[in-house]
Amino acid sequence: MVWNLVAREGEIAPGKAKLVQVDNKQIGIFYEGNKYYAILNICPHFHAEICKGHVTGTLICHSFEEYEMRHDELVLRCPWHHWEFAMDSGKAVIPSIKQRLKIYEVKVEDGNVFVAV
Ligand code: FES
Repeated sequence: MVWNLVAREGEIAPGKAKLVQVDNKQIGIFYEGNKYYAILNICPHFHAEICKGHVTGTLICHSFEEYEMRHDELVLRCPWHHWEFAMDSGKAVIPSIKQRLKIYEVKVEDGNVFVAV
């Protein structure tokens, strides 16, 4: 595992990924809620560029008529078939879907953002 410099702090606007190339892998760097995420830009379903998808909260259903949008657990929604994956773990929101995103470790040092690949 090697730490790779991928961005400067403050360079990435919330809601948009910065796409970087590391070791022939295209990785989307996100900054959401004061936290960085690094996600391989391949949806495990049919290989869409998932980092071009939408970042959103998690919709919790309390009852038939009562829903709550929570933003403490962010998900990335694929632009093709709208499968959603947790940005922290890469797990699909729907438990029956076993495919998951490839997530990379991120660290920030001296204003620089690094990804472990
Ligand atoms: S390619 Fe991503 S949900 Fe189908």
